[in-house]
Amino acid sequence: MRLNDSEIERFREDGFLILPERFSAEEVALLKAELPRLFAERRPENFREKESDAVRTAMGLHLRSEVYARAVRDPRLVEPARQLLGEDLYVQQVKVNAKAAFSGDVWQWHYDFATHHGEDGVPEPLALNLHILLDEVNEFNGPLVFIPGSHRRGPAPATLDTETTSYPLWVVEDETVAKLIEEGGLVSAKGPPGTMLIFGDTLVHGSSLNMSPWPRTIFSLILNPVSNALTRRRRPDHQHHRDLTPVAPLPGSPRLLAADRAGVETRA
Ligand code: SIN
Ligand code: MN
Repeated sequence: MRLNDSEIERFREDGFLILPERFSAEEVALLKAELPRLFAERRPENFREKESDAVRTAMGLHLRSEVYARAVRDPRLVEPARQLLGEDLYVQQVKVNAKAAFSGDVWQWHYDFATHHGEDGVPEPLALNLHILLDEVNEFNGPLVFIPGSHRRGPAPATLDTETTSYPLWVVEDETVAKLIEEGGLVSAKGPPGTMLIFGDTLVHGSSLNMSPWPRTIFSLILNPVSNALTRRRRPDHQHHRDLTPVAPLPGSPRLLAADRAGVETRA
């Protein structure tokens, strides 16, 4: 559950980790089984694609589903984050990014701190993204693409793009991206369902559209130190939660399923 020394070193060097086989097929099925109900809801937490009715991202999931309430407290997500940051963390954002077969749209080149700072007034780029792949992610269905080492350059200049997709995003301009790729290359975060990803707040990343017949669904939890909380509240709660209660890892093993059977209290 804890990261070993070479994983920590790789994270510091590259800015991300791809960790296979962290969640079982049964656990992934449990998380996926919630999605038809959650995606069918017409509410502001569900952002739909610009060109279709398909859900692009569904937020606030730990407040909408007991399964996701357990997921945000899963020690496999929380403990590595606490290990890397060394302090109490709150749940900043909880979502599933779905890239529907044939229509899932791009995520432009960006790093999350541009939004966290620009929109929410987060002081420092400390937040971590913790993902679980819920489908097989391959080169055809729009994998996340990382620029290794781009976090070490410090935050790149970013501008707010409200046009390209249905989700406003602070994006990095092409010239900067080209330089970063020249230095660091590209890695696509592919893997079978149950693979976990961790990446930092200044790592430049994006993903292309899904032209394949295979959906690409990814669970994403953002944890941020309580000491580094938002200072501005202009975005709705589901985009940056106000509840700064430190997230407490669930007891028991394996976590998602054990908690289900035992009826463990699930609120973060
Ligand atoms: C993200 O920026 O974390 C989302 C990108 C994606 O889902 O491809
Ligand atoms: Mn991002």
